[in-house]
Amino acid sequence: MVGVLLLGPVAVELGTILLGVHTFMSLHVFVGLALIPPVLLKLASTGWRFARYYTRKEAYVEHGAPQIEMRLLAPLFVVATVVLFASGVAMGILHGQALVVARRLHGPASVVWLVLFAIHALVYLKRALIGSRQEIIAAAGRSVQGRRVRGYLIAATVVSGLITGAATIPAQHHWVNLRRDHHRGDHTGAAHTAR
Ligand code: HEM
Ligand code: HEM
Repeated sequence: MVGVLLLGPVAVELGTILLGVHTFMSLHVFVGLALIPPVLLKLASTGWRFARYYTRKEAYVEHGAPQIEMRLLAPLFVVATVVLFASGVAMGILHGQALVVARRLHGPASVVWLVLFAIHALVYLKRALIGSRQEIIAAAGRSVQGRRVRGYLIAATVVSGLITGAATIPAQHHWVNLRRDHHRGDHTGAAHTAR
């Protein structure tokens, strides 16, 4: 369900990139920050499954590990996710050389991330939709273990995402006002001035 929930905001992020990320920077930053709580829940829930599987909890062992291709891609996907979001946030907080590094990382990380995200979503979309339907409709009114907690967790991440996006609006200028040529390094600017 968290995966399905991510599809809309990620499509909006993609839209800002295709239409010109600097023109739509405010929306890009709002949606990017709002995505952080649901992405953390996604990482936590898959991390939980990972931990339960390797500590040999019966139900998780029975469910089995993901197919081998997805198992190999998963660590790269998790690292790309962390680098993408951390570099995005860092651009609004850091200065000097650290800011240059964050700007250099964000673009390439987003390319790797979008490719892995597309593969992941294509492979899992059907399973995610069926699972979500079962959780919402098929289990309605019945007492299914953990369903209420999962519902609260999902609602809480959506609300925290919106709060994170909205609360950072007053600080958005830190991201929006980045100089467009800065990521090539200050020395590039100096070279222009020298010429
Ligand atoms: C930030 C984006 C996402 C991250 C970091 C992420 C991460 C992961 C990881 C690490 C796994 C376990 C390894 C694997 O099976 O490949 C996983 C499983 C899964 N993901 Fe995602 N995912 C993301 C987005 C999505 C989206 C958009 C969907 C839905 C289209 C989705 C649906 C699933 C499903 C159905 C599973 C398998 C669960 C199971 O077998 O019980 N994920 N995800
Ligand atoms: C799904 C998540 C995200 C994707 C796919 C994404 C993708 C991109 C891409 C492709 C660019 C253009 C890179 C370039 O011109 O070199 C960009 C720029 C930018 N993004 Fe993101 N981004 C994401 C999340 C975030 C987040 C969470 C933030 C921060 C709150 C953020 C802030 C920025 C900023 C400030 C720029 C301008 C960078 C610059 O001028 O060097 N992004 N993003």
